[in-house]
Amino acid sequence: MAKASSIYVCQSCGATASRWAGRCDNCGAWNSLVEEAAAAPLPGGVRPRAGKGRRVELVGLKGASPVPARLRSGIQELDRVAGGGLVPGSAVLIGGDPGIGKSTLILQALALLARRGEKVVYVSGEEAVDQVRLRAERLGLSDAAVLLAAETNLDDVLTTLGDAPSPSVIAVDSVQTIWSPQIDAAPGTVSQLRAGTEALVRFAKSRGTTVLLVGHVTKEGQIAGPKLIEHMVDAVFYFEGDRGHHFRILRAVKNRFGPTDEIGVFEMSDGGLAEVENPSGLFLGDRSAATPGAAVFAGMEGTRPLLVEVQTLVSPSTLGTPRRAVVGWDGSRLAMILAVLDTHCGVGLGGYDVYLNVAGGLRIREPAADLAVAAALVSSLLGAALPADSVLFGEVALSGALRPVAQGEARLKEAAKLGFKTAVVPEAAKSEWKRNPPLALHAPPDLRSLVRWVQSFGPATGRPREAGPAPARSIAGA
Ligand code: TYD
Ligand code: MG
Repeated sequence: MAKASSIYVCQSCGATASRWAGRCDNCGAWNSLVEEAAAAPLPGGVRPRAGKGRRVELVGLKGASPVPARLRSGIQELDRVAGGGLVPGSAVLIGGDPGIGKSTLILQALALLARRGEKVVYVSGEEAVDQVRLRAERLGLSDAAVLLAAETNLDDVLTTLGDAPSPSVIAVDSVQTIWSPQIDAAPGTVSQLRAGTEALVRFAKSRGTTVLLVGHVTKEGQIAGPKLIEHMVDAVFYFEGDRGHHFRILRAVKNRFGPTDEIGVFEMSDGGLAEVENPSGLFLGDRSAATPGAAVFAGMEGTRPLLVEVQTLVSPSTLGTPRRAVVGWDGSRLAMILAVLDTHCGVGLGGYDVYLNVAGGLRIREPAADLAVAAALVSSLLGAALPADSVLFGEVALSGALRPVAQGEARLKEAAKLGFKTAVVPEAAKSEWKRNPPLALHAPPDLRSLVRWVQSFGPATGRPREAGPAPARSIAGA
């Protein structure tokens, strides 16, 4: 039987239960409930009485407030994601999969800050001092005056920091290793994570120090994930990337001092993380000549335009239910495009397996990619390669109509800068540009016209697939 003073806390979502269960009722995670001590009641069973509070001053919206000063790390991709630099006294969570490069990013940022004369402290709870030193040496940062400690005890960390004049930046790597002896729970549990974060955030606010918290994304629910502390910090950045690729993306998902949706692009090399100033060039870098099934999407990531290649493969299916495999895009959005192509354009892909991949391992979240996806699908089906120097963007409605999307001008400019000659955009978007667009526009009024445009490039000759039994490929009514 459970002790009266313990509760069971899901390490994945933080829900509590009075009894252990194999599966969390709230989030459905398996084997994620861990016994923790319940919060201690107030001494003597007293409850705070209502109506005894202090009178607070109510003020208007208008008033002179100082603009927060920014602490620039010198890593421009990081500073931009933060909204122009780190804000003193703020708490920033940097989440990401284990091994993605969080510690590397933190160490590089701290070292650059130290070289600029800032006092910075690196508390490593995962790696020993020697390991961090070795890494610093490999990155050529040993000379930077970063103060280093390998420590996980929260009280010891706070005492150490409390004695000295406050540093400008403290990094705690990772916050999941930090534990407080006053809390009766194992390190890495929800109670410990919350208590550690709360204490460090309080330290940041009271001392005007920027606190960087590293948090590992966990899937198994054995240690509590960074999602649980997102609400406690001022800014949340996720470090993403594909292990198979070298580039990494720092994405702001919450920021009280700057815009969200902003991304920073890095490349992981032998010498650590390098900034990528021209991400479109990186994602389109290994693009060869025009091939059927590929289309270049002119997308936006935050305030920055980003060109990526959408690759599709449509092949006759031998399965009862054809396969739809999507990497880097939304599967239900693909289903919608397939349905619109079928219903409004007579392009039926019911008998085909459909594979969709966003080149370079990037994840696209914009509906603006609809047009590029539709064109790539038809291009693959027909074996008709789109012109290599064309980009596409626009949203497809369920009616088959094409809708303009925001920030068309920035997308066009980026495409022109990278040497593209034609942009395929929804017709309605044309009237939005006051000035002459920097490249030739093709503006189909609906999806059916787009299909006809793709069809005009005809099947490529000498395609390898023609060696096999040729499937009937026709488009009715287009
Ligand atoms: P790390 O920063 O330790 O990841 P995290 O803190 O998110 O767990 O980075 C680990 C990976 O980065 C590791 O697989 C090796 C790679 N790496 C490089 O490729 N080059 C480098 O210069 C460094 C320091 C790491
Ligand atoms: Mg690490």
